[in-house]
Amino acid sequence: MLDDRRKACLAAMGIPLWEQRRPATAEAPELPAPTAETEVEPPPAAPAAEPPPAAEPARSAPTPSDPSALDWDGLEAAVSHCRACSLCETRTQTVFGVGDRQARLMIIGEAPGAEEDRQGEPFVGRAGQLLDNMLAAIGLSREQVYIANILKCRPPSNRDPRAEEVVACSGWLARQIALVEPELILAVGGVAAKNLLDTDQSVGRLRGRVHALGEAQVPLRVTYHPAYLLRRPEEKAKAWEDLQAVWRQLHGGTVQ
Ligand code: URA
Repeated sequence: MLDDRRKACLAAMGIPLWEQRRPATAEAPELPAPTAETEVEPPPAAPAAEPPPAAEPARSAPTPSDPSALDWDGLEAAVSHCRACSLCETRTQTVFGVGDRQARLMIIGEAPGAEEDRQGEPFVGRAGQLLDNMLAAIGLSREQVYIANILKCRPPSNRDPRAEEVVACSGWLARQIALVEPELILAVGGVAAKNLLDTDQSVGRLRGRVHALGEAQVPLRVTYHPAYLLRRPEEKAKAWEDLQAVWRQLHGGTVQ
């Protein structure tokens, strides 16, 4: 049933073999292969500019203030110069996003951590390794999906993103979603899920069904953050259920 590679991925996720059953709805054929389609609402305007301090560049609204007109190159350049919130003072670099810009599946996490801030790429630390294994378990590599975060800059000491930081960054992510046009978004963790869906509900309540994001109603699923799964390995079986649902949805199987 399971090939050796997937067994190894599941083992790396910490999913015991007796839990590695195929979905009961066996409409699902064999794993691999993607392509894309969908849309999303225009991003909100960025916050107002602050007066420039003497020596440092001013923190200001992103330029231009409406990212919805930007192409990939323009967007990446604008993000790299963003000074719309105070995180620009403490970041090493911005962490834009990575992967297939025409991916069918988009993964959205919370914010860069120390390793991501250092390397400039999302999900490259321990949590990222687990995310890679989770994706591999459904036949996907990180190159085949598009991975981004709610925030493009690391919050100091990995604290939770603040509301004003999320607002300042939301236009960038909205534009990324609009450009990728994913068939499905997988929000990993409570910060991503709650901010995208504008809700206070827990991951436990939000997972297990398909939500619709924004005016374009982009299908969105929620699962646990890999960093949480590293702390609570007993929840990995639920994440595996979520991943199977993602896989079924991408392959036209029954959506639960
Ligand atoms: N956690 C996240 O949510 N995103 C990253 O890029 C890394 C860790």
